[in-house]
Amino acid sequence: MSDSRIRSYAPGRVNLIGEHTDYNLGFALPIALDLGTTADFEPDPGTGTVVAESDGEPEVVTIGPDTAPGDVSGWGAYIAGCIWALRTAGHEVPGGRLRIGSTVPVGAGLSSSAALECAVLLAMTAHLELSRHELARLAQRAENDYAGAPTGLLDQLSSLFGQQDTALLIDFRSLEVEPVPLPVDESAQLLVIDSHAPHRHAAGEYAARRASCEAAAAELGVASLREADDDAWRRLPEGHNRARARHILTENARVLAATEALAAADFATAGELMNASHDSMRDDFEITTPHIDLIAAIAQQLGSHGARMTGGGFGGSVIALAPAPAAERICADLPKAITDAGHPAPTVRRVRPGRGAHLL
Ligand code: GLA
Repeated sequence: MSDSRIRSYAPGRVNLIGEHTDYNLGFALPIALDLGTTADFEPDPGTGTVVAESDGEPEVVTIGPDTAPGDVSGWGAYIAGCIWALRTAGHEVPGGRLRIGSTVPVGAGLSSSAALECAVLLAMTAHLELSRHELARLAQRAENDYAGAPTGLLDQLSSLFGQQDTALLIDFRSLEVEPVPLPVDESAQLLVIDSHAPHRHAAGEYAARRASCEAAAAELGVASLREADDDAWRRLPEGHNRARARHILTENARVLAATEALAAADFATAGELMNASHDSMRDDFEITTPHIDLIAAIAQQLGSHGARMTGGGFGGSVIALAPAPAAERICADLPKAITDAGHPAPTVRRVRPGRGAHLL
């Protein structure tokens, strides 16, 4: 083993509130998870080629120095995308061997791809002085322009700026990240309920929502929905774009209100805002499914402060904020209620805000 070996870690994320607000330059309140991805990079100055393998994947991926979008698909695309983003931004990256291990479940809407990108970028740029914001932008470029997913910066900023027992209020216009203490205790526990629903059509629907928001902003004569006043959606004609804009504008207000409520340990108010966020994603943004609605409704009925779908939509996970007894009930009773309704058994995980990406 050479001593130039570099190990890094980057977590997945779960968003407490503020969905699809990132590319609208609004607000979100995510946490980094205590689940993450490690990258073990052994640079080889003799080659420009990266040979990558992952504990969770059968195939070894070879990425040439001139890799370009379209060359590599599947999980390797996120790594190739990082190498491509670094090189096209003018950074020198050596080849070598890369080994990936992860505890972030794939397909659960917990940003396993951002965790992979951030771990790889951190390990490969240990010799460069790049800021966390630069790393986030490079990861986003890998995701948007190499892997082909038109996502915002929520996942990467959460992974890179995470702090233990702390939520992150992100302003996507200034890219400021403000820590909001969130100790997990008897009165407030966090559960992530993975539906195991396949994200069918999710990519096309995500792009369609983004296009609707851009169209709504253009109709209102503003550069982004962040520049519109809270009631601006009322000036749009009835239809999809108006409903999409109403979700974004009301969601930004809910993020700020939930941040204040959490900071005051007012979990009842924070929970009500989470429930309202779910309703807005269901009725105005139309990104939930009956299966996900049922999981959120049952988590709410079992006594959580609040529960909502988290992430891009059309599957993935529900996040619940619950006092300890309700958290117990959700773990014990929710899976059966969901299988009784004919859906696959969900996985319920207790999580807490974890540390952000770092070198090991
Ligand atoms: C996905 C994207 C993020 C964000 C969320 C929705 O996770 O990767 O950029 O848009 O959906 O809030």
